[in-house]
Amino acid sequence: MKVGDKHYRTIWMENRKPKSVFVIDQRHLPHQFVIEEITSLDAMCVAIKDMHVRGAGLIGAAAGYGMYFAALEFEGNQSLETHFFEAAEKLKATRPTAIDLTWAVNKQLSVLSKITNLDEVSTKALQTAHEIADLNAEHGLKIGEHGSSLIETIGQQKNGEPVNILTHCNAGWLAFVDYGSATSPIYHAFEKGISVHVWVDETRPRNQGARLTAWELKEMGIPHTVIADNTGGHLMQHGMVDMVIVGSDRTTFTGDVANKIGTYLKALAANDNGIPFYVTLPSSSIDWETKNGLNDIPIEERGAEEVKYIQGLVDKKISKVLLTPKDSKAANYAFDVTPARLVTGLITERGICEANAESIFNLFPERKQFEHTVKNE
Ligand code: MRU
Repeated sequence: MKVGDKHYRTIWMENRKPKSVFVIDQRHLPHQFVIEEITSLDAMCVAIKDMHVRGAGLIGAAAGYGMYFAALEFEGNQSLETHFFEAAEKLKATRPTAIDLTWAVNKQLSVLSKITNLDEVSTKALQTAHEIADLNAEHGLKIGEHGSSLIETIGQQKNGEPVNILTHCNAGWLAFVDYGSATSPIYHAFEKGISVHVWVDETRPRNQGARLTAWELKEMGIPHTVIADNTGGHLMQHGMVDMVIVGSDRTTFTGDVANKIGTYLKALAANDNGIPFYVTLPSSSIDWETKNGLNDIPIEERGAEEVKYIQGLVDKKISKVLLTPKDSKAANYAFDVTPARLVTGLITERGICEANAESIFNLFPERKQFEHTVKNE
């Protein structure tokens, strides 16, 4: 994606520094564009856990590079297998809900477990990290191509009037390596000349919508309006939303969708008002082993201070402001699960399918072996 005149991915390496990974530190957006240089596994874990990098796809790619640092840091005082296992556990523990992270770490583990020549380990880990990142960008592009056809159809029905799309959180370019999931169809539709307008849920407590999605859309020149999280239902009741497009941190093979807290409420309102509710996701976000999203997807709980304080620009400085009584308790559930029955369709890199096992396995027939290895049966 372009920031000003320069094309950026959200995570990259530079030839001059082969042992450094660069990321955009998203904590400072939209007010400051800060690039962070990461040089160790521990620093990568902190960047993921403290959300310098965030979003399902991006934390997967970041974890891939985390395993590259683990390879560089091997000192030979334990077996390579134990060393990588420990690094993998450290990375997986940073954020429990988004399954891309586990997917990327497991991909690295399966590649690295086959290597016997120590000299090859870091080269192979780096190559795999690049492959994970490239695949993520490629999937975002394809999701955009498939999803834009849905926007186009609604645009035709509206005779060129803007298609009003509501989105929650940031499943945009910043949440992936490039393009994003929920915003990718919007970017594609916009580039095709289809008139669009995006309602951007602010997405408390961390305001990924107000800070990040709004910034992305502004950089792309796409008309958008930031709304308080509670506004969507009202807009839907008054015909002001044509479709909802959100991302996913983990989708079960049965079509239940874990996404940023508040997504479920938007799905309920969309269902009540007959508005299509689409979920965009690369297949790396599909949990092929979990059948019941509501019971079995771990929901990350974060610190109370994210709810109690709000961050913004005060006198040109990024500052935090206390919102609640100082001693009030606050709870911070980061994700919720939208049951498959409320989802109109899943937009993946392979195309669009219904949110049920049959339709998902039709798109991904190579995964059919998992149909029988279902948890909790
Ligand atoms: O906690 P975050 O910001 O890492 O949350 C993840 C998300 O950005 C959203 O839930 C998003 O809609 C799905 S990630 C592509």
